[in-house]
Amino acid sequence: MLQDGKLYIGTSRKPDDTNNKPEYLDLKFGNRHGLVTGATGTGKTVTLQILAEGFSNAGVPVFCADVKGDLSGIGAMGEPKDFLQKRADQIGLTPYEFQEFPVIFWDLYGEKGHRVRTTISEMGPLLLSRLMNATDAQEGVINIAFKIADQGGLPLLDLKDFQALLNYMGENASTLSSQFGFISKASVGSIQRELLILEQQGAVQFFGEPALKISDIMRTTNDGRGAISVLAADKLMMNPRLYGTFLLWMLSELFEVLPEVGDPDKPKLVFFFDEAHLLFNDAPKVLIERVEQVVRLIRSKGVGVYFVTQNPLDVPETVLAQLGNRVQHALRAYTPREQKAVKTAADTFRPNPDFNCAEVITNLGTGEALVSTLEGKGAPSMVERTLIRPPASRLGPVTDAERQAIMKVSPVAGLYDEDFDRESAYEILTARAKKAADAAAAQQQADADQTSQQSSGGSRWTLPGFGDEEPAATSAPKQTKPRTGYQRETVAEAAMKSVARTVASSLGRALVRGILGSLRR
Ligand SMILES: Nc1ncnc2c1ncn2[C@@H]1O[C@H](COP(=O)(O)OP(=O)(O)OP(=O)(O)O)[C@@H](O)[C@H]1O
Ligand SMILES: [Mg+2]
Repeated sequence: MLQDGKLYIGTSRKPDDTNNKPEYLDLKFGNRHGLVTGATGTGKTVTLQILAEGFSNAGVPVFCADVKGDLSGIGAMGEPKDFLQKRADQIGLTPYEFQEFPVIFWDLYGEKGHRVRTTISEMGPLLLSRLMNATDAQEGVINIAFKIADQGGLPLLDLKDFQALLNYMGENASTLSSQFGFISKASVGSIQRELLILEQQGAVQFFGEPALKISDIMRTTNDGRGAISVLAADKLMMNPRLYGTFLLWMLSELFEVLPEVGDPDKPKLVFFFDEAHLLFNDAPKVLIERVEQVVRLIRSKGVGVYFVTQNPLDVPETVLAQLGNRVQHALRAYTPREQKAVKTAADTFRPNPDFNCAEVITNLGTGEALVSTLEGKGAPSMVERTLIRPPASRLGPVTDAERQAIMKVSPVAGLYDEDFDRESAYEILTARAKKAADAAAAQQQADADQTSQQSSGGSRWTLPGFGDEEPAATSAPKQTKPRTGYQRETVAEAAMKSVARTVASSLGRALVRGILGSLRR
């Protein structure tokens, strides 16, 4: 059943219910994206699981979100169960062997996996606006905020940094407006309030350092298997916009970081978007267009994107058209919208004369699906009614103890678990601004004069008008605590790690942003 260069999905059935043939996903078309759909409880997550297993065994790293906690078992050995054995027998999968997979658990909240963070700077204005559900006016101000920060080579690490920048913009709205475009104080205020809400929802933990390095989700094991990164998303799902924005940010990062590879023998990475409707729900048109563009272009970077959702209508048509490998589980067809979904799903397959697609879709059993993958020169195969193989890893969650054990031996253990010193560039700048304001006007003037001669090197971040004119030589004796020097270095280091590398060493150079607004590398 196992074939080189192919991933076994299941075995298709003839109309008389006898085995037809094994169905495969050809790894060389693994980067041509895919779609897994079906009503609730029809077998989508198990399909995701067996696809992830297959990619991993083929040496392809996988990233997926575990929306209900039931995917985590992929990191544990499967256990014999009657219904699984029955399925294995049915499709002629003998012997039915169990396996545990190299899993790296991730969690934005740091509870069920290694922490995942990014910085505001790296997320960029488009996704941040989406995260905040910004109005057009607010988005305008957010764009200007990034312009100010980017042009100043100023890293925005966390939400506090962004708040500070907004304060600054509010206080200097008229001056800045003439330089960067109109800044409405009311919009600044409303964004600040939105930020507070985000903070309360726990997004604050997601922004900061150390930011996730994409190379850490592209690891393989010594025995040549691809790591399966599993993002704990049960808690995250309570904030669907954060979930959706986070996954888009990942996609955007992958796109910006990875080099062109054309059409590789197998993907460099496969990315599963579970609950994909959350990406597109009420998304502004421009965002959908950009997503469509990234999905189209990321293929030649060797990344396969697989959307998992209940209803094919959840995915915009332009994106849908690019998803070459399809697994359609059962759909219900009671309401007009459901009937439309069935028709859409049926119409997108290359028909099989043996059966009527639309009819079969509503009659598929659990763990059964209509399957069509790309074959030959990249054309869709004729759709087949397929019993999906049972997983080799455990069906259902890992225990907390198992999760801890896996995290302990993970290749990224310790790398992300601690925050870098949360006192970031901005707090220091703000503190300095305050100090400068407290200082005597004459002294301040003297300090300012000195600055031009003593301006520091690339490790210091400056924001015009933020009172940063105080030269290092003057501030050092005032802060006598021994931590000061260390702290300053940590901040500089933290900043350098994620953002500065893209700023090069020149503070004045503007950052360049890609399609979804992430930093270009
Ligand atoms: N390929 C399969 N082999 C054996 N059993 C399966 C298979 N696929 C699904 N099942 C059975 O069906 C159950 C539900 O499947 P699954 O959790 O994948 O559904 P789902 O579509 O993800 O549901 P939801 O929308 O609620 O997340 C599984 O727990 C398992 O018992
Ligand atoms: Mg599921």
